[in-house]
Formats: sequence, structure tokens, C-alpha cells
Amino acid sequence: PKAVAIPAEEDEAEAAVGKTKVTVFFGTQTGTAEGFAKALAEEIKARYDKATIKVVDLDDYAVDDDQYEEKLKKEALAFFMLATYGDGEPTDNAARFYKWFTEGKEREAWLQQLTYGVFGLGNRQYEHFNKIAKVVDELLSEQGAKRLVPAGLGDDDQCIEDDFAAWRELLWPELDLLLRDEDDISAVSTPYTAVIPEYRVVIHDPIVTSCEDKFLNMANGNASFDIHHPCRVNVAVQRELHTLESDRSCIHLEFDTSGTGITYETGDHVGVYAENCDETVEEAGRLLGQPLDLLFSIHTDKDDGTSLGSSLPPTFPGPCTIRTALACYADLLNSPRKAALSALAAHAIEPGEAERLKFLASPQGKDEYSQWVVGSQRSLLEVMAEFPSAKPPLGVFFAAIAPRLQPRYYSISSSPRYASHRVHVTCALVYGPSPTGRIHKGVCSTWMKNAVSLEKSHNSSWAPIFIRPSNFKLPVDPLTPIIMVGPGTGLAPFRGFLQERLALKEDGVQLGPALLFFGCRNRRMDFIYEDELNNFVEQGILSELILAFSREGPQKEYVQHKMMDRASYIWNIISQGGYLYVCGDAKGMAKDVHRTLHTIVQEQENVESSKAEAIVKKLHTEGRYLRDVW
Ligand code: 2AM
Repeated sequence: PKAVAIPAEEDEAEAAVGKTKVTVFFGTQTGTAEGFAKALAEEIKARYDKATIKVVDLDDYAVDDDQYEEKLKKEALAFFMLATYGDGEPTDNAARFYKWFTEGKEREAWLQQLTYGVFGLGNRQYEHFNKIAKVVDELLSEQGAKRLVPAGLGDDDQCIEDDFAAWRELLWPELDLLLRDEDDISAVSTPYTAVIPEYRVVIHDPIVTSCEDKFLNMANGNASFDIHHPCRVNVAVQRELHTLESDRSCIHLEFDTSGTGITYETGDHVGVYAENCDETVEEAGRLLGQPLDLLFSIHTDKDDGTSLGSSLPPTFPGPCTIRTALACYADLLNSPRKAALSALAAHAIEPGEAERLKFLASPQGKDEYSQWVVGSQRSLLEVMAEFPSAKPPLGVFFAAIAPRLQPRYYSISSSPRYASHRVHVTCALVYGPSPTGRIHKGVCSTWMKNAVSLEKSHNSSWAPIFIRPSNFKLPVDPLTPIIMVGPGTGLAPFRGFLQERLALKEDGVQLGPALLFFGCRNRRMDFIYEDELNNFVEQGILSELILAFSREGPQKEYVQHKMMDRASYIWNIISQGGYLYVCGDAKGMAKDVHRTLHTIVQEQENVESSKAEAIVKKLHTEGRYLRDVW
């Protein structure tokens, strides 16, 4: 059998007992990659006595670039569970590692001591499918590390758990060679069944445990706020942006940040923790068979003596009522993962229901799962309604069935120079029938639609928020010409840009030309911020406002059609050092605009397609073609 060398400097104790150190890294945004990392670690631990395993957050691994280098050199066997986000970007917790690893100095084959495997989490609907995993896998190999199995490319558009399971099956024969003792190498490795995680639940007496507050971990007054330390802010303004003629809704919302210490820059994002609406919470309470006013808390029984940590998601602050837990912490409207179906199956009293749930969660049930659950967008609550005998205990429900409700991110539609102490959001309401006929209501947009502002009541709505910095920034020199493309709510960051330019102009700063391509369905219905945009033109903040109305004439008019009309003008601006910004839907619009840019370059420069691609790529790497897409 091949042996994995343990470098001499390695932890003496581990080396002494002949153990092999295995590190499972994760780059996670919503917790899926982290969950996979923990599951992989647990399975390796169950299969191989010889392995000592650590699960490591890439951000926590090293304080700086030097430490990344120093520590990676000492790894013998490592796995990387890496999600790709947005426009082919790493997750926030992998960003520093990724930057260092991809942009760092030229390195020789310095990782020859390392054997590795990469599993990526992505979505095939997006242009840069699993980019981060692919790049890291390629670079590790180029720098001398030995690839144990081909990189797994998980596709969240289908069933990413199946992709992960298939990748693990490739892994075991290889790991058997590395981690099984020589004398039992011929034996079949022990079958492994994942345990269903569970919290310990304590029920409290409301008379003894008096006060309950949501989000006890909120830290107003903190030096800085982040996803784990959001800041409570009130809704100052809330209004509808569509006219009465529109059958859709788009909300303008302003958070009041005065006195909180929250700061942001134009172009940043805001993360918002919204709550499930009452109707959803009540439905969940009914399905669980639990009274909503029950006061409870959840606990993990600390450390099982390994370095694995717990496979449980972090606990939420408690004690709180079931109503609060369901409203603030449980993702109830997404489709359940297979692991959730297994956990439900374990608690279904009716044998037929248990069978069907088990089947849906099994490899044989793959097609059925992908049609009945994913394809028909059945929510967790809808699935639970179909299996009424499955009433999981609270400790199982919050640990293994309902994922933690994630914050939603919005491109901030204001500039702090103009609207100090305010964070503006422009949010389209997600509302419409799903394939099963359920009316799907987006959690955060519904919350914003129903939010009560300080303008209307002293008892206004509030939410925990935090700022996520972005690279979507105006050029340093205000004279640099800019072209902005943002149909629909893609307009949001550009409203911030224009506010910033207005503030600059008022300070006497000279501005370069600015073009905005905006598109919507119909001038009379969803032309959001129309007056403001016209005002920006009048004030000379915006040189030209170019509009595309997609549902007015017999033919669809999109922003990219308007761009083609002005191809030579656009190329003139860009080739003279101008910046191009695109914001909005990644799957359709941004892809099409990218193609249009490519065509413009090809035609204007009169070059081959591959050369045009290289020019576009160069614009991107120079930071003159910037995208904020979702
Ligand atoms: P549609 O809904 O009529 O197709 C904001 O959502 C605007 O973007 C709408 O006018 C919408 O048009 C349009 N839009 C939809 N798909 C697009 C695409 N692929 N490229 C550009 N604009 C698009």
C-alpha cells in the first residue's frame, strides 16, 4: 500500500501513535459545504482507526498568507469542500485563502507531500459552474500535490447530496489504500450509516423564565458587525415602487442606521435576517403538532472528545418560543434535502409513509426525488403535509430537518455620502404559483412588503442586518467615463452610484460622462425611480438614460439591444479607459449582456472571436468590467 508521509515537524503525539492526519477544509456560505465537510470527516473517522481528522474553516486556518504557506506545507492528506458563489466567486470565508492561493507568487512544486481531494458545490445554471473548486483542484496539482480522485462537481440545480455521495464512493477504494492497516487491507470496509443529529431540548416554565428576546446574539454597540453579529435596525421608510397598474410589487425600504456605528460604501451589499410570515409559522406549528407559545431552548452536548466538532448547526439563542424559532431560524419554504427526508422517515409512525420517505432519500429514489421534490419545488412544509404521521421531535427538527434560515443579500441602493445613516434596499417581491399550485412567497421580500416604517408607526418593523463589502465600486477618478447596465432591480447599486456622483458634484468635483441602460416591462407600471433618474439627467449627473421597455411593443426590447444600437459609442468609451458595470440577473440578462459585449468588441475591433474573448477577459481582470449579479 502507498503510504502518506507525515512530515517530521508534524505533531509529535499524532506521529508517534502512527496516526495519519487528515484535514477537511471548507469554504461555505449557507452551511452546506460545512455540513458536507463534517459528514465526510465523520465517515472517515468511522471507517479508519488510523486517521485523526480535523474540520477546518479556511478563514480560521491561518491569520495571514505566510501562515497559509507554512501550514499547508505540513499537511499530508487534505480535502477541500468548496462552494462557488455569485459571479464565480469564492465564499466569504474562503476569499482570503483563494486570493492568496491563486494570486500569490510563482511557486514550484512545493506541495509534493500533499495528497488531496476536492469537492465543489455549485449550480449548473450559472456561467462559472464550480469555478472555485476547479481552480483550486488544478492549482494544487500544478504545485505538486497528488490528486487522489477527480474533483467532484456538485450541482445544486439537481441533487447535490447525490453528487456528494457518488464522489465519496470513488474516494473509499483510494483511502483504503492509504489508511487501512496492511493486515486488513483485503477486508471490505465497514458500511457506514450516517447518524441523524439531534439537539437536547429543554422546556421552560414561562413563569420562571421571564424574558424572551429574539436574536439575543445581536451585538448593537459592537465595534463591527458581520453575519454572526448582525445589528438591530429599524425600518425608517417603506414604499411601493410599482404603480397601481402593475400586478407585481417592488419595495423601496430604508433602514435607519443612526447611532449604530454601521458604515458602508457605495456598491456594498446588505445582509438581512428576515422572518417567516405568520401564516408559514402557524402551518409549521400545526405540522409539528406543537403549541407555538411553548418556551424552549436547544443544546448540544459538548465535545465528544474528538476534534471533529459537532455536525449540528450552531444553536440559536434561547430560550425562545416555538413561534420565534420557526419565524427567525427555520428555513421552511425551500425543498428539503435528502438528509431531512431520512430524518423525517425515522419519525414517521405510519409504515407506508416511512417507506416512501426512505425511498425518496435513497439512491434508487433519485429520479422520484428530483421530480417530486425538486422539480415541483415542494417546500419542506408541503412535504411534511404529505406525511402527517411524521412528527419529529423539536431537537431533530431544528438539528436535521429545517436548515437554518439564511440572511438574504441586497445590493445597497444608496450612497452614504448622500443618505448618511440610511441603508436603502430595492427589493422585488417574490410571489407566484409553484408547479404544485402553492403560492410561493419569498421570505425576505414578503417581510419587506409587510414591513411597517417609522413614518407610519413608532412601533416599526426592525431586522438584524450587516454589511458585506463588495468590489463593485466607482472608478477612483470621477472623470473616468462609466457605462452602467441594470434592468429591473439591477438598477439598485447604480442609484447609489448616482447619489454619490451628485454628492461629489455638490462638492465641486468635475464628473466624467455616465450612461445608464435601464430596462423594465412597461413605462407605466414598473419604471422604478423614474423621477429620480430624470432628475439625475437634468442635473448632469447622468449624461444619458437609455431605456428598454420589454412589453410595450410587439417585440421585446432589452438593454442589450439598446447597447448594440450604440456599439461604436460604447466601445469608444471603454477603449479610452472607461468602465462597464452590469448588475442584475445572472442566469439570463448578465449572460446575454456579456455575449453582447463580446460581439461589440469583435465587430468594433474587427477581430476573431477568441481575440475578442481575450480583450473582454482583460477588461475583467483590469477591473474595468465589473459585475454584481445574482
Ligand atoms: P421581460 O420580463 O419582459 O422578459 C427587468 O426585469 C427587465 O429585464 C424586464 O423588462 C425583463 O423583460 C428584462 N429581461 C428579461 N430577460 C432578460 C434578458 N435575458 N436580458 C435582458 N433583459 C431581460
